[in-house]
Amino acid sequence: MLKMMNVNVTLTGNNDKAEILKEISLTLENNKIYVITGPNGGGKSTIAKSIMGIIPINGGQIILDDTDITDKNITERAQLGIGYAFQTPARFKGLKVKEMLDLAAGENKVDNCQILYDVGLCAQDYLDREIDSTFSGGELKRIEIASILARKLKVAVFDEPEAGIDLWSFHRLTETFEKMHQKYDTTIVIISHQERILKLADEVILIEDGTVGKITSHEEFLKEIAHLDSDCNCRNDCIKGGTQGAECGR
Ligand SMILES: Nc1ncnc2c1ncn2[C@@H]1O[C@H](COP(=O)(O)OP(=O)(O)O)[C@@H](O)[C@H]1O
Ligand SMILES: [Mg+2]
Repeated sequence: MLKMMNVNVTLTGNNDKAEILKEISLTLENNKIYVITGPNGGGKSTIAKSIMGIIPINGGQIILDDTDITDKNITERAQLGIGYAFQTPARFKGLKVKEMLDLAAGENKVDNCQILYDVGLCAQDYLDREIDSTFSGGELKRIEIASILARKLKVAVFDEPEAGIDLWSFHRLTETFEKMHQKYDTTIVIISHQERILKLADEVILIEDGTVGKITSHEEFLKEIAHLDSDCNCRNDCIKGGTQGAECGR
């Protein structure tokens, strides 16, 4: 379980200070999928980076199981089982897929063939292939997730995994998250705006203006969004008034 308790992140410029995260408190349990969503600039990526230790926090605590990791650096957090998939995946150029998976697994005993199968790739086509620019965005994402499975992480954070992949790969990606959820005990945190990903969530966490807006089930979250659309007074009034094509303005 990962706990963020009253976490503050403040960035200081020459003359000004920006409060990016304000008193964020979240409890993320094992074997659950959390989808963090909300407006751009709300602080989602900053939460991911503060969990991984990429940016320091200015107040509050972060606890992994019974360990206070607030003062631990990225490497220490990685050793404790926290992983962060970057928005743009690294290409691990020159390594073969199997070498990369072995590197990721470290001391863990893992079956590379099974792991590739779990991310929807056929092992015999990939194990000996060198990772280079001939891999598609979707393939790279799945290879990256395979390396996360090999690490047997306690907490895996994915920042907008849908970015830069085609629809077909996106479909396979959602299946991969489902499988990861069924088979592994990892706490999965996905930052996303996609309805298909929201539907995977045990809990949807809305982050707005550096604060936790709301935590709901995906059913409730999606119902509220639909409700907002159907209740748009502006559009309804326009339709009643006979004006076509008016936009809602929200
Ligand atoms: N390195 C930085 N320097 C200054 N401001 C930053 C920096 N990183 C993020 N911010 C600001 O922090 C806020 C939250 O950013 P971010 O966490 O990336 O939001 P999100 O991922 O929800 O779109 C934004 O207003 C952004 O401009
Ligand atoms: Mg972001």
